[in-house]
Amino acid sequence: MTASDILTTDSLSVTFGGVKALAGVSISVRQGEILSIIGPNGAGKTTFFNAVTGAYAPTGGRVFLSGREITDMGPDQVARLGLARSFQNLKPFAEMTLLENVLVGREIHMASGMLAAILRSPAFHRDEAAQKQRARELLSFVGLEQRRDQLARNLTYGERKMLEIARALALEPSVLLLDEPVAGMNPTETGFVMELVQNIRRQGITVVIIEHDMKMVMGISDRIYVLDHGELIAEGLPHEVRANPAVIEAYLGGGTLAPAH
Ligand SMILES: Nc1ncnc2c1ncn2[C@@H]1O[C@H](COP(=O)(O)OP(=O)(O)O)[C@@H](O)[C@H]1O
Ligand SMILES: [Mg+2]
Repeated sequence: MTASDILTTDSLSVTFGGVKALAGVSISVRQGEILSIIGPNGAGKTTFFNAVTGAYAPTGGRVFLSGREITDMGPDQVARLGLARSFQNLKPFAEMTLLENVLVGREIHMASGMLAAILRSPAFHRDEAAQKQRARELLSFVGLEQRRDQLARNLTYGERKMLEIARALALEPSVLLLDEPVAGMNPTETGFVMELVQNIRRQGITVVIIEHDMKMVMGISDRIYVLDHGELIAEGLPHEVRANPAVIEAYLGGGTLAPAH
């Protein structure tokens, strides 16, 4: 680990009923970079996110965020420390508006606390107005400003994925993990997300992306890690990874470097 590393894992492992989904994976994410994690289906990519964010308890290894060990922390505590994620399978609150969905993510930033909320104090009302303002900014940032008062269940698939990103950003994270952000999107939507990710990084947020879309991965990643059967098989710059024989072999065995949509 060096001073510029913001998120690192040391020999991280996850076992499910004897099957090693993650077998001693050591990754270093540098402050301010856009890092991609690729690999065939079942390689352990989502398991990696789950183990890093405390959704799964690792069976071995350690996780550090800004030098602090977070291995045994739960998802809420990890999120409070600045590590936010979006999910491969979306979970917005369908019967809440977009604005309300994002406000749920803002809750940890409410300074006035529970007592003030119950008493509806002036401090609570000031705080609430500020949180709503920030939630509107975030919806605008992901292109959903016009739809803020609609129910989440009325969104298209692509819009739900944008809402998911706004909700993760509502935590004001230092590191954002995105699990297949453009899966199922058309090329126009994919282009929008590529720009969005670059704008997120411009705000000083480090971004780690799991993605199959090779146009996106090769187009925006500073570096790429490749997982196969729970193990790290390659790391490097996009052009290095694309030409790596082990990577080509892994994809030929389980799919292709540019899967069809
Ligand atoms: N909750 C779970 N219970 C049992 N097996 C799991 C669980 N989550 C993932 N796995 C297994 O771990 C392996 C890696 O899965 P996953 O991390 O979802 O891969 P990827 O995201 O790279 O497609 C797969 O064999 C998968 O079936
Ligand atoms: Mg996955």
